[in-house]
Amino acid sequence: MQLDSTPSRPSSLPLRFGTPLAENAIRVMMLGSGELGKEVVIALQRLGVEVIAVDRYPDAPGHQVAHRAHTVDMTDPDALLAVIELEKPHFVVPEIEAIATDALAVVEARGETVVIPTARATQLTMNREGIRRLAAEELGLPTSPYAFANSLDEVRAATELTGFPCVIKPVMSSSGKGQSTVRTADELESAWDYAMAGGRVNHGRVIVEGFVDFDYEITQLTVRAVGSGGEVETSFCEPIGHLQQSGDYVESWQPQQMSALALAAAREVSEKVTSALGGRGIFGVELFVKGDNVYFSEVSPRPHDTGLVTLRTQRLSEFELHARAILGLPVDTTLTSPGASAVIYGGVEAQAIGFDGVAEALAVPETDIRLFGKPESFTRRRMGVAVSTAADVETARSRAREAASKVRPVG
Ligand SMILES: Nc1ncnc2c1ncn2[C@@H]1O[C@H](COP(=O)(O)OP(=O)(O)OP(=O)(O)O)[C@@H](O)[C@H]1O
Ligand SMILES: [Mg+2]
Repeated sequence: MQLDSTPSRPSSLPLRFGTPLAENAIRVMMLGSGELGKEVVIALQRLGVEVIAVDRYPDAPGHQVAHRAHTVDMTDPDALLAVIELEKPHFVVPEIEAIATDALAVVEARGETVVIPTARATQLTMNREGIRRLAAEELGLPTSPYAFANSLDEVRAATELTGFPCVIKPVMSSSGKGQSTVRTADELESAWDYAMAGGRVNHGRVIVEGFVDFDYEITQLTVRAVGSGGEVETSFCEPIGHLQQSGDYVESWQPQQMSALALAAAREVSEKVTSALGGRGIFGVELFVKGDNVYFSEVSPRPHDTGLVTLRTQRLSEFELHARAILGLPVDTTLTSPGASAVIYGGVEAQAIGFDGVAEALAVPETDIRLFGKPESFTRRRMGVAVSTAADVETARSRAREAASKVRPVG
């Protein structure tokens, strides 16, 4: 890879594109190779980039479309450093939160590998405390009232501040694991026990958040990419509305209708938090909206699952935007059609499941599906998604729901 004739400094742009598997290839390593990583791999492959996919289990979706695949426990800093040293990627692109992020800071400090967006962003966002304190206390962004607690007694004290209902979450968890909404003080003990069982690493620490009685919630996809002047600029996709059930998104749609004031506030909050995290790439800023008011919830410094809808609604999907931003290329966030996505769940617990009804699903107008190719199915595991477009969001939503319901997993 030639970088302004300084190959050892991958952050200097623009890059000279090379040939995959040759000496001059641009090499990108995905840390996490699920359905979102798989789409990023495909986007990078299309730009002639050499891609190395890493996941904790063999034959992960992204493994199946990369030049090389590694199965590594990415929470083990030594194992993570070893695979990075072996492959010497120019860019390391985390796709999941559960990574030894301190090892990424070591890699970044060596100066030969760019961590997307930055090692600090991955450190701050993997722990709810890091990102919440940055957003609320340093940047002054509006959030729910919150407090952190290390014991049931501290949880009780925290509810003096938040009131009821409140939401209790382990500081290190995702996909709603260990999270519960508590309506009365009687339920606090079971919520605490549930959080202790469900955290990613048992830190014995939770965030207690006041419940935000929002009208709707959105993902504001925000891209930090090199603009025409050579500096990193911020661009916004149209807002994505979504529906969450037991910690997972089941449907998303774009654009979510918002008042002009709420949209302006969403973009201001997103601009501030992503600028503070820095680097290049796409971010999924999760916001709660009530009337014209917007509350920051959290941010993923990577593509967002609700953004699967952009595979068909935007000229460049969130995955293509990420690939371009990583490589220092210009971006275009144009929406080409309203659309919606609906999740296809495994429905069964089995290895190597089959799918019936694919032809019926694809007979729904303006509809595509993705089957992720995960080797093992669980009842509530996301195995695929239906994505539909239409002249309006309501029609697109009913098309996507219909298509997803036609796909029948068989064990
Ligand atoms: N304080 C709150 N008030 C109201 N609803 C909330 C609150 N916190 C979380 N929720 C609801 O729970 C969902 C999941 O919360 P959150 O995003 O914090 O969890 P998560 O485990 O990080 O989920 P994911 O990894 O899927 O984003 C939110 O999208 C929202 O619907
Ligand atoms: Mg979330």
